[in-house]
Amino acid sequence: MSVQLSSFAKSLTVETAFSVLAVAKGLKAKGKDVVELEIGDSPFDSTASAKSTGVEAIQQNQSHYCPSPGLPVFREAAAKFVRDEFAIPAQAENVVVGPGAKVFEQFFCEAFLNPGDGVLVFSPYFPTYVPNILRRGARPVFASLKQANEFRPLISDIENFLKTDPSPRAVFLNSPHNPTGGVMTREDNEAIANLLRGKDIAIFSDEPYCHMAWKGRHESILAQPGMMDQSVAAYTFSKSYSMSGWRLGFAVAGTAIAESISKMINTTLSCTPPLVQLAGKAALERDAKERDEVMQKFRKKVELLTAGLNKIEGIKTLDPAGTFYVFPNVASICNRLGITSHGLALYLLEGADDQFGVACLGGECFGEAGGGFLRFSCAEPDDRLEQALAFLPKAFARTDRVTAYLETHPQFRLKAPYAEA
Ligand SMILES: Cc1ncc(COP(=O)(O)O)c(C=O)c1O
Repeated sequence: MSVQLSSFAKSLTVETAFSVLAVAKGLKAKGKDVVELEIGDSPFDSTASAKSTGVEAIQQNQSHYCPSPGLPVFREAAAKFVRDEFAIPAQAENVVVGPGAKVFEQFFCEAFLNPGDGVLVFSPYFPTYVPNILRRGARPVFASLKQANEFRPLISDIENFLKTDPSPRAVFLNSPHNPTGGVMTREDNEAIANLLRGKDIAIFSDEPYCHMAWKGRHESILAQPGMMDQSVAAYTFSKSYSMSGWRLGFAVAGTAIAESISKMINTTLSCTPPLVQLAGKAALERDAKERDEVMQKFRKKVELLTAGLNKIEGIKTLDPAGTFYVFPNVASICNRLGITSHGLALYLLEGADDQFGVACLGGECFGEAGGGFLRFSCAEPDDRLEQALAFLPKAFARTDRVTAYLETHPQFRLKAPYAEA
């Protein structure tokens, strides 16, 4: 008998953005002009001090192992940063370093979940939350975020989870939110903290877009009294400092939780490269101005895309609140064309035109509640965003090409119409 993969390995689902990226690159290699709005990566260069300090660190042979939770100087700098920026009462011992924010989803689940435990996840959601919950044999429990509530979590959904779940154990929060762009207010955080404080419920607060709150400032639940002791907040350099390929992030948590996560780092990654940590420390300490200028560029792109989408018949997009994603409601267009929203996304890329395409994602790539929406990232220059906007209405009008696309891709036929706002 040949070697068998585990049932977990066989059932593992992945981020669709990377699969669509591969299709887009393949079409481009064959000569198609594709505007790439599928992947959540910054089109800008890593900030200046990060680059120069990284090069210096290599020259100075910072190329060996370092402590699993991170270089003490990095942990100090990150703690000061979250204290100053988000009023989180963190010290160095509350910070653990990792290669990006994503890995802390796994470590959080390993720290808190036992098989059968219930974990509340607001849908749509970042796609890797669920595999990381399932990795522990725990149970994702979904509550929908609604466009009518600006994609902010409802306290009543958390109350309901606590009341009805047989073994409620954790809640995943993400603000500013990928894919919807929703942003939680201080009042939202206060109400959730008041509900969960002191209970045996752990919170994963995913905050990669903490510098992309377009109305007011970013608020973390860890700034609420006592919440650090039952929470893990995850931060990354991928978005704010355009350092996605360096792989650098960190988590902030109560001391006992941070110590537990350090053991997980010790037994998997050993440590995060010290030269990368030194580059990140320099970015935190010296690149705030450059970062904020880049954030304003993102904001303008989001505004441009939102305004353009709202001029297209059948599309309804909220005013930008946060992130570099735009999440328009396209339910009426999908219903009229008889195509799912991810089918519509792939039609725009592959089927609508032979020479030109737009790569984006259907909202259902982020869970069932995302059906009837598209997610665009703003990762291209403004003139390319304008080209994409001009293309969409033409593509929606080519009903003969939609029919032909559905004939070759019947899995995208819409079985039941989406609810329209
Ligand atoms: C909500 C969310 N969490 C986590 C991540 C992972 O980021 P990193 O590059 O730091 O691993 C992303 C990246 O797109 C994200 O959107």
